[in-house]
Amino acid sequence: MDYEVLFQPDGKKVRVRPLTNVLDASRRAGVRIPTRCGGKAGCLMCKVIIPEGQRESCLPPEDKERRKLGSALLEQGYRLSCQTKITGGLQVSIPEDPLKAAIRKQLEAARNRDADDFI
Ligand code: FES
Repeated sequence: MDYEVLFQPDGKKVRVRPLTNVLDASRRAGVRIPTRCGGKAGCLMCKVIIPEGQRESCLPPEDKERRKLGSALLEQGYRLSCQTKITGGLQVSIPEDPLKAAIRKQLEAARNRDADDFI
């Protein structure tokens, strides 16, 4: 039995076999999740958020992932996509890249300044 995985904010979906990890599912869906370690829980670049109500659709984190992420991030729903195995229909949220977020905020601030100049 396959499970449907929905990636947000892209809205892309894919069907995967049980115990596929989220990183592999994202590649099949054409969703880019950055990685540097090749899926070995070494780079921490592949973080995703599993929203509340969805977390039962994947296996709980193993010790390696718990050590890497820490309890604060885990409680917020963060998981390493390369370590998160899918056990049901699932929605995954991809956090915005921090560099892109900083650029977006600067552009928004500049736009707001420009808009104020016309008033
Ligand atoms: S791919 Fe590097 S930690 Fe997941």
